[in-house]
Amino acid sequence: MSEQECLLEHEYDGIKEYDNPTPAWWHVIFWISIFFAIPYAFFFHFSPMGWSVHDAYDSEIAAFYQAKFAKFGQLESDEATIVGLMLNENYMAATAGTYQVKCASCHGKSGEGLVGPNMTDDFYKNIKTIEEIHRVISEGVVAKGMPAWGRQLGPNQLVLLSAYIASLRGAQPLPGAKAAEGEQLPPWPDHPMLSFEDESEDAG
Ligand code: HEC
Repeated sequence: MSEQECLLEHEYDGIKEYDNPTPAWWHVIFWISIFFAIPYAFFFHFSPMGWSVHDAYDSEIAAFYQAKFAKFGQLESDEATIVGLMLNENYMAATAGTYQVKCASCHGKSGEGLVGPNMTDDFYKNIKTIEEIHRVISEGVVAKGMPAWGRQLGPNQLVLLSAYIASLRGAQPLPGAKAAEGEQLPPWPDHPMLSFEDESEDAG
C-alpha cells in the first residue's frame, strides 16, 4: 500500500493518522495469555494440586525442621516425646502442612472431623493413651477407612503427626464439627516441652 492509502479518513486540526495495525504475532501472544490465564486461575485457586503462597511457605518450614530433626536422629514415639513435641508451637506449626496435605481431607482442616473422627474433643475410638495415636497412624484402621501411614511417611513425621493430632484436642468446637465418638479420655499426661534447637546456632 502506498503511504497515501495507509492514511485514515479522519483529520483533526490538520493532523492525519496512519492505519498502523499491531502485528499478528502481538495478537497471538495477547490471546494466548488470556486463554492461558482462565484455566490457570482455576488451577491456582481451586485445584487440589495447586499450591498457594501459604503452602509453599509451610513446606519450606517443614523441610527446615525435617532437616533439623535429621541432625538429632530418630525421635522416640513414647509418651514424653509426643507430649513434649505437642507443646512446642514451632514444631506443631511445621507439622501443620503435612496434616493439611495427608489428613485434612478426612479429618477436616482443623481436625473437626469429616469422614474420620473429630480430633478436637475428648473422645477417641481407637486410642486409650497418647502413644496409641502413633500406632493408629502407622498401622491405620484399614477396615474402617483409616489408611496405614507407616510406609508412606518418614519415622519422624509419624511422631510429629502424633503430637499434632494430640495438639488438636481442646480446640474450640467448630461449626459443623462431627459429634463425639468413642470413649472420653483423661487429659494428656504432663511432660516438659521438647526443643532440639541448638542454642549457639540461634544466638547469632
Ligand atoms: C481416607 C480418609 C482418611 C485419611 C486420609 C486419614 N484418616 Fe485418620 N481416620 C479415618 C477414619 C475413617 C478413622 C476412624 C476409624 C474408625 O472408625 O475406627 C480415622 C481414625 C484416625 C485416628 C484415630 C481416632 C480415634 O478416635 O480413634 C487417628 C489418630 C487418625 N485417624 C489420624 C490420621 C492422620 C494423622 C492422618 C494423616 C496422616 C489421617 N488420619 C488420614 C480416615 C482417614
